Amino acid sequence: MAEHRFSSEPTYVIAPSILSADFGRLGDEIRAVEKAGADWIHVDVMDGHFVPNLTLGWPLIQSVRKVTELPFDVHLMIENADRYLEDFQKAGADVITVHVEACVHLHRTIHEIKRLGCRAGVSLNPATPIESVLPILPDVDLVLLMSVNPGFGGQKFIEASVARAERLRAEIERTGKPVRLEIDGGVGVGNIARLARAGVRAFVAGNAIFSTPDYAATIAALRAELAKV
Ligand code: DX5
Ligand code: ZN
Repeated sequence: MAEHRFSSEPTYVIAPSILSADFGRLGDEIRAVEKAGADWIHVDVMDGHFVPNLTLGWPLIQSVRKVTELPFDVHLMIENADRYLEDFQKAGADVITVHVEACVHLHRTIHEIKRLGCRAGVSLNPATPIESVLPILPDVDLVLLMSVNPGFGGQKFIEASVARAERLRAEIERTGKPVRLEIDGGVGVGNIARLARAGVRAFVAGNAIFSTPDYAATIAALRAELAKV
């Protein structure tokens, strides 16, 4: 379906989180990070139930779909995700990630995302045991490891996430499947190289990119750190 938007499959994916963008100029902000060298656009959807914040829904994704050909990496921090999967797919989501803590029938949800033609991801919160995602690992395209408690941008990176990434990487390798490990929360130039060494292959960065005046310079600095790995 939207597989063409994954035309390039970089080893390391940098995915700016638009949660920290200026929503009044969202189209321009997305164009700016695309021009600055972003690989995917990370879109945080919050429902005020699963997480203590409200953000945006599929209509907004639909309206910014036309401004970029980059894949939309949609992170659903919502209850009842099943009810909205098709809406997000139709709006132009490429990756749809759901939380293990929020999905009662996770296997069904993951397979529904794939049936819709999207890549399917599972996410886990910082205090959720790695074991909780092991049964679904062979079925997903991506694991999104939360390195902050979801709900807000600009939070401090939780250090224990590095060891958790290492463990997840080992478990992913055991499946023999090409599952991409992505990390979300407090990622920046100070920790990206360590995370890559731990096996992370996609990096969400909100505050680290959007709080700086020159997005291209910031993304280049992140890539320079990755080049040291
Ligand atoms: C947190 C969101 C993140 C957030 C990351 O709930 O899932 O994607 O925007 O923001 P930073 O990079 O600022 O921690
Ligand atoms: Zn996110």
